[in-house]
Amino acid sequence: MAIEKNIYGVMNGKDVYAFIITNAKGTKAQIIEKGATLDKLLLADKNGEIIDILVGHDTLDGHINRSDYQGVVVGQYANRIKNGAFCIDGVEYNVTKNEKGITCLHGGGEYSSAHWKGEEAGSNSVCFSYTSPDGKEGFPGNVQLKVTYTLDDCDCLSIDYSAISDRKTVINLTNHAYFNLNGYNNGDVLNHLLQIDADRFTAIDENSIPTGELPSVEGTPFDFRKEKTIGKDIEEDFVQLKNGMGYDHNFCITDYDGTLKTIAIAKGDKSGIVMEVKSTEPGVQLYTGNFLDGSVIGKGQLPINKRSAFCLETQVYPDSPNHPEWPRCIYEANEEYKSKTVFCFSK
Ligand code: GLA
Repeated sequence: MAIEKNIYGVMNGKDVYAFIITNAKGTKAQIIEKGATLDKLLLADKNGEIIDILVGHDTLDGHINRSDYQGVVVGQYANRIKNGAFCIDGVEYNVTKNEKGITCLHGGGEYSSAHWKGEEAGSNSVCFSYTSPDGKEGFPGNVQLKVTYTLDDCDCLSIDYSAISDRKTVINLTNHAYFNLNGYNNGDVLNHLLQIDADRFTAIDENSIPTGELPSVEGTPFDFRKEKTIGKDIEEDFVQLKNGMGYDHNFCITDYDGTLKTIAIAKGDKSGIVMEVKSTEPGVQLYTGNFLDGSVIGKGQLPINKRSAFCLETQVYPDSPNHPEWPRCIYEANEEYKSKTVFCFSK
């Protein structure tokens, strides 16, 4: 186990460091202080070749100016809030509407753009801290955040999230890594196998806002309970797929109880790399890179193409601040929010 700390660039006059955690197998996770971004994940494929399975950027300029949330931590409320508005105890809060001027997406971008302070937290862990000021992007509370990345010798990368606000507020944190288990430069993900442990999903309207319905996946393209390729049903004539331009939906984890459990398994068809996702969260957003269009240049000077990656963003359901009947996202002043997601790799 070893942690390296290198200068990655300068943002707003402040040095941005990259931390590289290397485990006994030689697997490496690189995380940078801008957005507490998971920047690189290098591991051996079935032939022993080392590949980077994260689609994204390899310069700070790319992360700052051309990012579509690749690898970042998003908050204060990951995913969407309808009309950028919600109420807590009869007080209405209006937050940044950064999507089409009508929706708050990924908390308006504050957390993902922020400079997080990284510190070694043991031989295989790095902890990133950031304090979000009260009222930033419209969200109540000075929120103290810690996100800890740990890479163990079994090739499990854990992300532990903790947040404490001094006012009652909404909290929903996730990581927005774009995975291509065949390697970032190895085509689309349509032939990846995927299984998600969800009986239901969050139906959305044409603006990707939850309608409030939680339809059964049974008999629909959303049934990933048995593994199938990501591409098998993605072009089906199904209104929910049209609304998301592909998969861009929250899957409701079956038998959610807040404990850490396996919620999804993905496999790279060419690399043989298997990724098991464990989480304490009630939902996971499957996003299949529908809005990527090749116009942005990413790692290795290559265009980031449509469906060149998939995201599995563990979370509470989108727009939960407006759905008190769903798993909760509101935290009392000084009550700690905790969440954990683990990505375990094998071949
Ligand atoms: C999330 C959203 C998508 C998209 C991406 C970033 O996955 O659900 O609609 O906005 O983030 O582009």
